[in-house]
Amino acid sequence: MNQQLQTILKTIEGNENISIEEKEVLINAVKKADYELTITAFKLERTEKVKRTTAILLEETIEELEQKRKAIEETNAALQQSLENLKATQSQLIQSEKMASLGELTAGIAHEIQNPLNFVNNFSEVSNELIDEMNEELDKGDFEEAKFIASDIKQNLEKINHHGKRADNIVKGMLQHSRSSSGTKEPTDINALADEYLRLAYHGLRAKDKSFNAELITDFDKSIGKVNMIPQDMGRVILNLITNAFYAVNEKKQRDINFKPIVSVSTKSLGNHISISVSDNGDGIPEKVKDKIFQPFFTTKPTGQGTGLGLSMSYDIVTKGHGGELQVTTKEGEGTTFIINLRIND
Ligand SMILES: Nc1ncnc2c1ncn2[C@@H]1O[C@H](COP(=O)(O)OP(=O)(O)OP(=O)(O)O)[C@@H](O)[C@H]1O
Ligand SMILES: [Mg+2]
Repeated sequence: MNQQLQTILKTIEGNENISIEEKEVLINAVKKADYELTITAFKLERTEKVKRTTAILLEETIEELEQKRKAIEETNAALQQSLENLKATQSQLIQSEKMASLGELTAGIAHEIQNPLNFVNNFSEVSNELIDEMNEELDKGDFEEAKFIASDIKQNLEKINHHGKRADNIVKGMLQHSRSSSGTKEPTDINALADEYLRLAYHGLRAKDKSFNAELITDFDKSIGKVNMIPQDMGRVILNLITNAFYAVNEKKQRDINFKPIVSVSTKSLGNHISISVSDNGDGIPEKVKDKIFQPFFTTKPTGQGTGLGLSMSYDIVTKGHGGELQVTTKEGEGTTFIINLRIND
């Protein structure tokens, strides 16, 4: 029993002035109080125990959470790392795709440069001879004839300059193609860009396979003027589409020697937007393949021949890079047309 209550009990028992009946009532009251006190103490102890268990549980939970937080942090770091790896691989892929397409273009570029070079060589030789002739006329005192020859030489020099510039443009275009994109839009002569790539791609293919022939049809809308775009990027899109078109007609030609391949490139000004289309009369794209052609790495080329990145990159350049659309219409056995739509006031 509680000590204070024991003291009270003793005091009551020892008190002569209280009657036995009254003592009994008081002692019972004290005993009841003691009983209740014991229960309260017991309850208190139990609460205390619950409190301690809860504290331990709470500590464990906090520790567990901390471990989970650390694990998440580690996963995040790993994810970040693989994202960076992925980005690096992606840019490597883009670069190697660019270099591969440059390789394909090399033969075409050589062919295209050969023409202006021939002109430059011929006209400079002829001009050299003309200068001798002019000197002879001057010696003879025939200034009239000498002046006539001089104007011929001037015309020749203009031609040399014109063809020299053309070769210069081809080399510049090639360098631009292999450089990473400037990422900035600039007013671009889209007709010239499309024409250049069509010729380069065609001669590139012919250099590899002399038997290959195709009719090239161009229909450029001269009213287009210069349109704002990232020329390297749009050049790559057009090159991809043209390369695909040549590949498609070439495949068909392998099966049918009487087949006449046609690849056409056209541009059109349509008010607030322009369209650039590349068509071929190849085998077309089967319906179940059509849904996948814009997916990265999708290719129907034999293993090792295509990366399957051509169209997915083209799609990104047109839509994300230029806010445009890249559409395809195709008919099995008859051919395919890819259309790029670009708004022009961007
Ligand atoms: N003009 C087309 N005619 C028929 N099929 C086409 C044409 N253009 C694309 N395709 C189909 O779309 C697929 C994907 O084209 P994409 O340009 O993305 O890759 P690829 O040409 O196969 O490979 P890469 O461009 O890397 O050489 C091609 O494999 C082909 O099946
Ligand atoms: Mg391709």
